[in-house]
Amino acid sequence: MAYEITDNPLRGVEAKQGTSGHYGIFDQGAQVWSWQPAGAEPVIWMSEKSWFAEGQPLRGGVPICFPWFGPGRHGDLYPMHGFARLQNWHMSDVKDTLDRDGRFIVEYTLNESMTGDQAQWPHPYRAVFQAKFTPEYLGLELRVENVGSEEITFDEALHTYLHVGDVAQVTIRGLDQETYVDKVAGTEGEVQSGDLTITGETDRVYASTAEVVVHDPVLGRDLVISKSGSANTVVWNPWIDKAAAMSDFGDDEWHQMLCIEAANVLDAPVVLRPGEIHCLKQRITLA
Ligand code: BG6
Repeated sequence: MAYEITDNPLRGVEAKQGTSGHYGIFDQGAQVWSWQPAGAEPVIWMSEKSWFAEGQPLRGGVPICFPWFGPGRHGDLYPMHGFARLQNWHMSDVKDTLDRDGRFIVEYTLNESMTGDQAQWPHPYRAVFQAKFTPEYLGLELRVENVGSEEITFDEALHTYLHVGDVAQVTIRGLDQETYVDKVAGTEGEVQSGDLTITGETDRVYASTAEVVVHDPVLGRDLVISKSGSANTVVWNPWIDKAAAMSDFGDDEWHQMLCIEAANVLDAPVVLRPGEIHCLKQRITLA
């Protein structure tokens, strides 16, 4: 069985795995929007209210935030999370061994000649994103190369939206004793004590390179989130009021999602000298 280039609602590529598995990625933002291994509930969450329109951010999947995060470190950059997630990336490679082992690899590239006017970040770069869909794990890899003659500095994140049974019942393990910035409380230097549970709006940037396990008693599974090349783990759930305020987010959808993001942000941006490459990886394993 092969993959399919699709155009609805956005251009991209989709594949079926086994009897009920599904993989999907859009050209816009090189954004993974589906990873559902055969026999499992979807692992990647996508909002039913997402706009699915050219040039608009998608609510769900794995947005690639680059070259800044949120509104940038001084709070004055637009669009939110950088220009890369709104661009059509170039699909540069597809490897299909679906029939043999259920694996599917898609590679996308982006560079400054494709992103046009980059007045807010005027630097030459080459970005390569690879999504590896397998029945056991989803592997994500963002490589950014400085192809110019001056040093460059950027923020980045793989802003992964996970599908959970009930966010209020999950336990997030692996962040004990890590320090974090709490963007809801507006505080810095907080220290995580024990496992993390979600009891209200949560928007935290942890200084952490650790593996995280999302224990989901409702769906009866653990999601193991490992990473490399990443100084921060961002944990986000908008909870009731913020979800209601977002027009591309269903009022009750916050129950079923949780973002665990592999990032380099705040005081840990990536700095590359000419010719250097940085590689950010995240892997989500169904256990
Ligand atoms: C998170 C940020 O990563 O993304 C939050 O920490 C932000 O502050 C959230 O609200 C969603 O961002 P956006 O631009 O997709 O609505």
